[in-house]
Amino acid sequence: MRSKLTAAFILLLMALLAISCKKTTKYTVTNDDDSQPIYQNPAYPVEERVDDLLSRMTLDEKIGQMAQAERNALGNENDIKTYFLGSILSGGGSAPSPNTPAAWADMYDRFQSAALNTRLKIPIIYGIDAVHGHNNVYGATIFPHNIGMGCTGNPDLVEQAARATAEEVSGTGIDWTFGPCIAVPRDERWGRTYEGFGETPELAEQIGSAAVRGFQGNALGGPASILACTKHFLGDGGTTGGHDQGNTEVDEQTLRSIHLPGYIAAIQDGVGSIMVSFSSWNGQKMHGNHYLLTDVLKGELGFEGFLISDWSGIDQLPGDYASDIEASINAGLDMIMVPTRFIEFISTLRNLVNQNRIPVSRIDDAVRRILRIKFKMGLFENPYTDRSYTGSIGSAEHRQIARECVRQSLVLLKNDNQILPLSKNLARIHVAGKNANDLGNQCGGWTISWQGSSGNITVGTTILQAIQNTVSSGTQVTYSIDGNGAAGADVAVVVVGETPYAEGAGDRSNLNLSSEDVTALANVNNSGTPIVLILVSGRPMIITPVLGIFEAIIAAWLPGSEGQGVADVLFGDYSPTGKLSHSWPAAMSQIPINVGDPGYNPLFPYGYGLSY
Ligand code: GLC
Repeated sequence: MRSKLTAAFILLLMALLAISCKKTTKYTVTNDDDSQPIYQNPAYPVEERVDDLLSRMTLDEKIGQMAQAERNALGNENDIKTYFLGSILSGGGSAPSPNTPAAWADMYDRFQSAALNTRLKIPIIYGIDAVHGHNNVYGATIFPHNIGMGCTGNPDLVEQAARATAEEVSGTGIDWTFGPCIAVPRDERWGRTYEGFGETPELAEQIGSAAVRGFQGNALGGPASILACTKHFLGDGGTTGGHDQGNTEVDEQTLRSIHLPGYIAAIQDGVGSIMVSFSSWNGQKMHGNHYLLTDVLKGELGFEGFLISDWSGIDQLPGDYASDIEASINAGLDMIMVPTRFIEFISTLRNLVNQNRIPVSRIDDAVRRILRIKFKMGLFENPYTDRSYTGSIGSAEHRQIARECVRQSLVLLKNDNQILPLSKNLARIHVAGKNANDLGNQCGGWTISWQGSSGNITVGTTILQAIQNTVSSGTQVTYSIDGNGAAGADVAVVVVGETPYAEGAGDRSNLNLSSEDVTALANVNNSGTPIVLILVSGRPMIITPVLGIFEAIIAAWLPGSEGQGVADVLFGDYSPTGKLSHSWPAAMSQIPINVGDPGYNPLFPYGYGLSY
């Protein structure tokens, strides 16, 4: 009898215990210790902290979280406090003066102090386009742009590069990059071709998710973890004619098979934010597409982070500003990169909610998503710059990783008579071309300034300097931009291609070599010196007309600050392993040309690349 009573008692005890455990895991919004609100206590589950904080917020405090302002648009830093701003960004090239890591960190900390001076002390999150290194910051390591990273075919290396970038970004306090761009560029006339990893969904899937893991680390909130932001959802690289911000005219099956896999992989890897594309799908602006933003991305794919607009992206929607805000937020956008008219945005959004044109439930969902990420990032516990990473900016260790990326991104397209690798003991090498000794040109757009620029714009090694660093003391290295003076040299290394551009400024109707480059090549060719061509460009270019004059051809893409990686391949310290992430068109008439097309006949196919 006694044993039965005991057993019954034990069962009763277990049941009570189970109920009590279930009770606490049901995120009940009660708190024994009133001195510290639940949302400020990291011991509580994130969702409980979100519930608690959301329940305390006024409408204005909620709306403020959904507004992202550009740093230069702030009348003064107290605007952050006055308007409860949830996020600040630096647009391309928007930097403090002086442009030093310490000045960036000081600026970030001042902005954060203003945010923590609000009633609920909700920290800001600061976004920047760290898309090939912390590229706004002078002296930061500049990695190859994504088109080259796609040619490495090496997710581990891409993850390493993103991790190094995350450390440099963290060293300036900033905690969010608007990257990786996982566009699948299908028409190389598009000025953003170089921002994608390549023309196939596989590259967006495998390389894009590696970058997400690198930026965010094993988990948000870990050491030097920064929030990643895959972009631009959806179909930015598929517009007709490659027109930037244009119209992607494909059926849903094609849209999903080409442009969605990168996002599916990134969501599986826990990406915390996604940026919406300026472009349209079959005539509807993505910024107003409820089906893709809410039904597909948040519903079908279960994305639990937040969606941010592109720069004034909602302004492109039809109608006035109020209808832009109404349409975009009701479609599923959670944070709006305003970025300048944030006062008007906030007051208009408040009116729209008060007029029931945007339900409070949508506001609460948006703010919940934003707060969830801020809690996961540990911003409430560690809101200020971790200055232990500031010294990593431009460090030798990071430059070595970037140099390895350069090595592995180069694609050897031609190597007649095995002219490569070059000996380090030649009598004379003549170097020519506008991109041989120009750090800005080898970095490309999104470097120090939005569009990038030619010249000695930051710290790094040009290809000419790398060659000079590598050859033996007995080798003479001569140089001319126009190719004159090559006669008598053992070999000429001619480095031509594109000058920097970003976004629509890079849209082209033809991808021919410039007349300056053709002239330099002709001058060298007339000298009778064998030519090694190095193409520094954001995409394949039309080289068919001059193909025969080269003994060897290397596609170097936009290698960034570590030109030494190019010399490593030139002189055989690294045997090229890069494989084309884009089909190389033989003529403009072939574009768009992508692997799998019927009648596929490029000059060099997708996946092509020689080695020594
Ligand atoms: C730009 C780009 C986007 C970038 C954003 C902030 O217009 O489309 O890729 O992240 O604005 O600079």
